[in-house]
Order: sequence, then C-alpha cells, then structure tokens
Amino acid sequence: MEYSAKVMDHFMNPRNVGEIENASGVGQVGNMKCGDIMKVYLQIEEGKIVDAKFKTFGCGAAVATSSMATELVKGKTVQEALQVTNKAVMEALDGLPPVKVHCSCLAEEALHAALWDYAQKNNIVIEGLKEPVEDVEELHHHE
Ligand code: FES
Repeated sequence: MEYSAKVMDHFMNPRNVGEIENASGVGQVGNMKCGDIMKVYLQIEEGKIVDAKFKTFGCGAAVATSSMATELVKGKTVQEALQVTNKAVMEALDGLPPVKVHCSCLAEEALHAALWDYAQKNNIVIEGLKEPVEDVEELHHHE
C-alpha cells in the first residue's frame, strides 16, 4: 500500500492533537468495523472556528485525515466548515488508498458531530448539517 508524502507527514507529525477545555462543540464517532474512535473539539467565536483539536484511537489514515481536517477548518465559518468533506480532506492529502477511505469519514463525521453539538448548545440551525451518527458504518452515501 502506498501513502502520499502528505499523508505520511500528517501521520508522523499530526497537527492539533489534544483537547480544548470548555470547547464550543465536541463530537465523537466510532467505526464498529475497525473499532476506532475519533473525538473532535471546536472553539467557535462569533460563528468562526478559531481552534480545532482531535483525539483518536484510530489508524494512521484516521490520524492523518483528522490532522488535515482540523487544519482546514481553522479560520472558517461553521457554514464553510461543512465544505470540509472527507473528499476535500483526501484531496488535500493527495489521496488515500481505497481501503482507507472509511477512515477519512471518521474525521468528517466527528467534525460534523462537533458542529452539531455547538448548534444544539446555542440553539441555532446550521443549514445542511445532518444529525450525526455514532457509527460511521451507518453511512453509505460516502462509498
Ligand atoms: Fe479504523 Fe482507519 S482502520 S479508522
């Protein structure tokens, strides 16, 4: 299996690992198949994501995609952050082997779950954001 240089970089030196105390939104999802778990923390001020961190019991591809996803959402509005899909993240990483695509869904879903949490806490509706799933295997629209 071949990984791009960018995937290797984000796997070896992951950005934004950790947690945010009193985060504006926290999201956690798992993948029943591989047993991996991803947690994403967002700090949101005036509708803008000012900080993003993640913690994972995930594989290397999950680490690399979450690292990139958290980098991509920083500085974006919550609405713009919805454009940070697993496809966008994979493109930013110069691709992932097909068997690892589901790992990037973990990053996207945890991000969405954190946005959902933020919306719930603040009584707002983020247009286009669906209620998160707890297990990414419930999703089939990514395949
Ligand atoms: Fe589980 Fe990659 S194998 S997240």
